[in-house]
Amino acid sequence: MSATVLVVDDEETARMVVSDFLRGKGYEVQSAGTLADARAQINLGTPDIIILDVRLPDGHGPNLLVETQRLTIRPQVIIITAHGDISMAVDAMRAGAHDFIEKPLDLLHLEESVRRAAEVVAMRRELNHLRSTQSGSGEFIIGNTKAMRDVVNLAERAASLSVSVLITGPTGTGKEVLANFIHRSGPRASKPFIDINCPAIQSTMFESELFGHEAGAFTGAVKRHNGLMEIADGGILFLDEISSMPMDMQAKFLRAIEERSFRRVGGSALIKVDVQIIAASNRNLKEMIAAGQFREDLYYRLKVVDLSLPSLAERAEDIPDLVGYLVRKFNRSMGLNITDVSPAALEVLKKYSWPGNIRELSNTIERAIMFCDDPMIDVMHLPSDIISQAETNA
Ligand SMILES: Nc1ncnc2c1ncn2[C@@H]1O[C@H](COP(=O)(O)OP(=O)(O)OP(=O)(O)O)[C@@H](O)[C@H]1O
Ligand SMILES: [Mg+2]
Repeated sequence: MSATVLVVDDEETARMVVSDFLRGKGYEVQSAGTLADARAQINLGTPDIIILDVRLPDGHGPNLLVETQRLTIRPQVIIITAHGDISMAVDAMRAGAHDFIEKPLDLLHLEESVRRAAEVVAMRRELNHLRSTQSGSGEFIIGNTKAMRDVVNLAERAASLSVSVLITGPTGTGKEVLANFIHRSGPRASKPFIDINCPAIQSTMFESELFGHEAGAFTGAVKRHNGLMEIADGGILFLDEISSMPMDMQAKFLRAIEERSFRRVGGSALIKVDVQIIAASNRNLKEMIAAGQFREDLYYRLKVVDLSLPSLAERAEDIPDLVGYLVRKFNRSMGLNITDVSPAALEVLKKYSWPGNIRELSNTIERAIMFCDDPMIDVMHLPSDIISQAETNA
């Protein structure tokens, strides 16, 4: 997790040890030996996190805490002191400090505290939309995990090359949002994106839905009807939950994508189309192939690019980003202004296992916002089963 840290300590050795340690952990670190120096650096650009000593040559460290909490972008301040002064710790926490650590510094303890602060920073950044992500309808939050960055790199390449894509992953991991993202990121963005929810189509109607039909092709076919493949011409055809496509249709569909053409039901003219195919499934297609329920040739034809979305538990470090985004999204749709999520609530959300993945996280945030009368979502606004499971996992 990347964040900028300002270390304010008058003891040069301590300052260097902490700075080098945090740099080694991937943070961007600056340091200051006096309050004046710290202020000058903050004026040049507010750091995400400030590690602040109490006794400084030109004044009382916590003064800086008070000043920075008035900034629009409030840094997370971790106070450090040599004196186990409880009353000062309480004051500092009241004034908005993120944490309080006693000297001599335990670097692992410091790292843990900085990591939590960085999570709050990531969540707020998304919440305030300070970092520009993909905008437009249905944003796609990428996050920091390698698995997701790999998926997105491949997805962008698939978009630019217009090749077939198979998206797999457990329920709620964002297969549909990813398909939309591919559409937006490629040359077909201004062309149609036709979304077919395969389980919703009756097996007898599949062919006519996809390829269309001529008038009189079957009882009830009064007029000619253009199929979705024809409507998608130039754009993308997204077949959601393709595992539900009937076997005989799979064969016909495979031929249509290989030949880039098909005939309407009851028609003889060959209709040529240029369509990029994206298919998605949360079922294990390989198992279905072994069980004779899915065509192997179609499977290989679809997965020219194979995008496998990780479960949310596998990308738990992206939870702060996702939470920030979701709060912002629901603020907008419900006309509310939740300005924050408490670090404790964020910690609970990070520890829960999320069997329903991002969809479940989204529902949880929506519900928390509905139950929240304050500007901040806290642990009490979260469902009790999530809290108790997070405690067990702690
Ligand atoms: N990367 C993401 N960024 C933002 N929101 C996301 C992301 N991934 C998922 N979501 C949200 O999670 C919810 C579920 O996503 P989606 O419908 O794409 O999942 P799915 O993988 O298609 O699930 P299923 O297999 O059940 O159809 C959506 O409401 C979406 O807004
Ligand atoms: Mg879906």
